Amino acid sequence: HGTSTINDKGHLEIGGCDVQQLAETHGTPLYIVDEQLVRQRCREYVEAFRASGLQFQVAYASKAFCVMAMCRIAEEEDMSLDVVSDGELFTALQAGFPAARIHFHGNNKTPEEMEMAIDAKIGCFVVDNLIELHMLNAIAADKGETVKVLLRITPGVEAHTHEYISTGQTDSKFGFDLGNGSAYTAIQQASSLSHIELLGVHSHIGSQIFEVEGFTMAVEKVSAFAVQIRQELNVTFKVINLGGGFGIRYTEGDTPLLVAQYVKAITDGIKSYFGEASYPIPEIWVEPGRSIVGEAGTTLYTVGTSKHIPGVRKYIAVDGGMTDNPRFALYESKYEAMLANRANEKATETVTVAGKCCESGDKLIIDLELPEAKTGDLLAVSCTGAYNYAMASNYNRIRKPAVVFVKDGASDVVVKRESLDNIVGLDVIPERMKKQAV
Ligand code: LLP
Repeated sequence: HGTSTINDKGHLEIGGCDVQQLAETHGTPLYIVDEQLVRQRCREYVEAFRASGLQFQVAYASKAFCVMAMCRIAEEEDMSLDVVSDGELFTALQAGFPAARIHFHGNNKTPEEMEMAIDAKIGCFVVDNLIELHMLNAIAADKGETVKVLLRITPGVEAHTHEYISTGQTDSKFGFDLGNGSAYTAIQQASSLSHIELLGVHSHIGSQIFEVEGFTMAVEKVSAFAVQIRQELNVTFKVINLGGGFGIRYTEGDTPLLVAQYVKAITDGIKSYFGEASYPIPEIWVEPGRSIVGEAGTTLYTVGTSKHIPGVRKYIAVDGGMTDNPRFALYESKYEAMLANRANEKATETVTVAGKCCESGDKLIIDLELPEAKTGDLLAVSCTGAYNYAMASNYNRIRKPAVVFVKDGASDVVVKRESLDNIVGLDVIPERMKKQAV
């Protein structure tokens, strides 16, 4: 992936940086992000949309990996930004990300979050339900502001990797259902509220999707809805947001399409639909997260102990685990890895990579082919850029790793490693429990 190579010392090199040196400089576990690859993915989206000739916004779904330096890259690469909480919003604002390009998502925004976002003058709220719609209108009215809104609709298309299904009614906590009239009602209400400017609708059909069919089905359903709404309610959508979900290649078995192929399927679908209906072609927005940062991330660990159970399996344990990457524990996600300090050596055994948490499910990879790993070797797990740091925890009070961006032979720390002081930083011992000074 990206700028990774093996150098003449037989070490993995990313962004021109020898990972053994990165380990010496920054310690392990370490998240390494190939900055050039992140930028390249951003550009692929922007360029594919430019080629379509349509008006567009590509919003990086910051949930995948939200730190201030990443927000800087998103801005520099002409992206918009999707945030889901005050924490993500604050991160973006602190990084100086232009508020007008921020979209606020989520199915349960608090009044405080709405206020914060209105005060910051963000570009758009993606409203999930009627309670939120009316609360947002009331808060905006109090402030004498009008806020731009997309309504999240559930189009009855669900996609996971290769399967995409058309469901009449979706059992989802998100959005207004298209099938049962609740989306229609929401449009009626939103377009009549005094402090809401309805821009259009949003749909998100799933994640890690390898086929275009789910997207083209969503395009059709949303477009048909747009035409119906225009005819019956005289409301014209200026924006259609088709969410994220574009797949990446975690392992050899994964077969994602190119960014340009996903984008073309969407923009072609929109063009044909709106061309025929003589409806002004709406702006198309998308929200890729995983496909921007996933493949650019590598987690570097130091191998510690091992345990061989004859006839069963061999475990090797690394100095991180489910605390920095909970995706195996949560989804049985598959990853590839290599011994980064012995990258040219042939595999001689099959091991299971475990972490250091007190939990049997704390595994990263089952049945990985490796040269015989020794204590002190470096294990590099690839494609950890999305939903790893973002979902990291302090279980067992394990400190979160540092994050470095690598590019052209230089490494920059973008998140410092947590310290033991950070670990107890928010703890409070009530006065009555304090140890008496002797
Ligand atoms: N837009 C909306 C409304 C979303 O809910 C999501 C992801 C995205 C965009 C970005 O989707 P992406 O392009 O990253 O697939 N923690 C899980 C993934 C959860 C995705 C949630 N929503 C994982 O580690 O696989």
